[in-house]
Amino acid sequence: MTKNKNTSNALWGGRFDDAPSAIMQAINASIGVDKRMAAQDLAGSSAHAAMLAKCGIINASDERLIQDGLSQIGEEIKAGDFIFSAALEDIHMNIEARLGELIGEAAGRLHTARSRNDQVATDLRLWLRDALDEIDERLGAFQKVLVVLAEAQADTIMPGFTHLQSAQPVSFGHYMLAYVEMMDRDRGRFADARARLNECPLGAAALAGTAYRVDRQMTARALGFDRPMSNSLDAVSARDFALEFLSAASICAVHLSRLAEELVIWTSAGFAFVSLSDQFSTGSSIMPQKRNPDAAELVRAKTGRIVGDLNTLLVVMKGLPLAYSKDMQEDKEPVFDAYDALCLSLSAMTGMMADIKINRKALADAAGAAFSSATDLADWLVREANVPFRKAHHITGQIVKCAEKNGKTLSELSLTQMQAICPKIKEDVFAVLTPAASAASRISYGGTAPDNVKAQVKLWKEKLS
Ligand code: ARG
Repeated sequence: MTKNKNTSNALWGGRFDDAPSAIMQAINASIGVDKRMAAQDLAGSSAHAAMLAKCGIINASDERLIQDGLSQIGEEIKAGDFIFSAALEDIHMNIEARLGELIGEAAGRLHTARSRNDQVATDLRLWLRDALDEIDERLGAFQKVLVVLAEAQADTIMPGFTHLQSAQPVSFGHYMLAYVEMMDRDRGRFADARARLNECPLGAAALAGTAYRVDRQMTARALGFDRPMSNSLDAVSARDFALEFLSAASICAVHLSRLAEELVIWTSAGFAFVSLSDQFSTGSSIMPQKRNPDAAELVRAKTGRIVGDLNTLLVVMKGLPLAYSKDMQEDKEPVFDAYDALCLSLSAMTGMMADIKINRKALADAAGAAFSSATDLADWLVREANVPFRKAHHITGQIVKCAEKNGKTLSELSLTQMQAICPKIKEDVFAVLTPAASAASRISYGGTAPDNVKAQVKLWKEKLS
């Protein structure tokens, strides 16, 4: 193997004669991924330098130089002028090396009482905290769109399904609010993850803490953490905060995939329940009539990658002894990937639902078909004719069979036809046989009656405002 004749690494090369091979560099470098944490790395370094100065570990003029250098690096990165180098492995060493170019020897004092192990853990927690705030905002915006739709379509009746077979009529608004509930639990999971991750690893150093008289409260506070982490081994080796994020993201993505799948089904010609706007449909290059729900399909598919990201990190972490191992460098890619995929999925779902067209006629027809008010007929027999439910179920089954044979819906049968099966049936049964009446009768708490839906919409509007 040809040796790379460059000098050994300036930041850790003291005991090395040769530079790493190109292959070593390729497997070791993470800069392509972790440069995304540049802002967090600068913030962490700035807080650390201020603490070192306050504790008398570095002097004030060195601190000034460091702070000015860090701000300048921040500017360079923002302007796109910063040169990221794979030879410098990661974002931490890229920034520190540049700091050395800018301010000379004082740069070498920044890494006092610190290791890249506590540094990277701090950076990723800071990064995820912002990411979680962004996701929460997007989820809130998505919920608002669904609530608006729920309000407009509270009285729109559609078939509710079990086994994807028409089951009972429900309000379209009720359907939308089911997703609002899911999104709210997702927000709760992300909020839980955020609360638990908000502890500061900085000061744990490589794994054992540091002999310098550092003030970990100060750096924790400066970076907006609730407190410093209390065990240095745990601080540098814990990645459950990232796993929690990925778990919550996976569950959220699974929720989105279910609605995405509804859209794929509902927009197909056999259903035609809804249509997506031109902005969120695509055409076919060969079939001119096609309007494809690509965005919904891709949201459905992105779930695969997000769950894959969770799986990736779970397997990376499995069996890793304490404390830091380089394996953990592989934590960022799945986290960033899941974040990007989830944000895009949320935007796409929000966009699709914001200007979706509801085909009330198709929904009403489908709700009326397939005998979806059969339960209401059985309930009428129990309530009005004092028939035991099991028997009412049987009678209703016979009536459904009769309707099917005659090519009618339940409400299209004549009273005589029904009385031939059960003489106790009276004219007023027709009041419960329409899908609208069926839905309106479901007034139990959490039930689909449009009045319930409107009351829930009101509560959600207050909650989300
Ligand atoms: N790039 C590394 C990571 O992301 C930083 C920590 C390196 N620590 C070490 N002991 N080599 O995990």
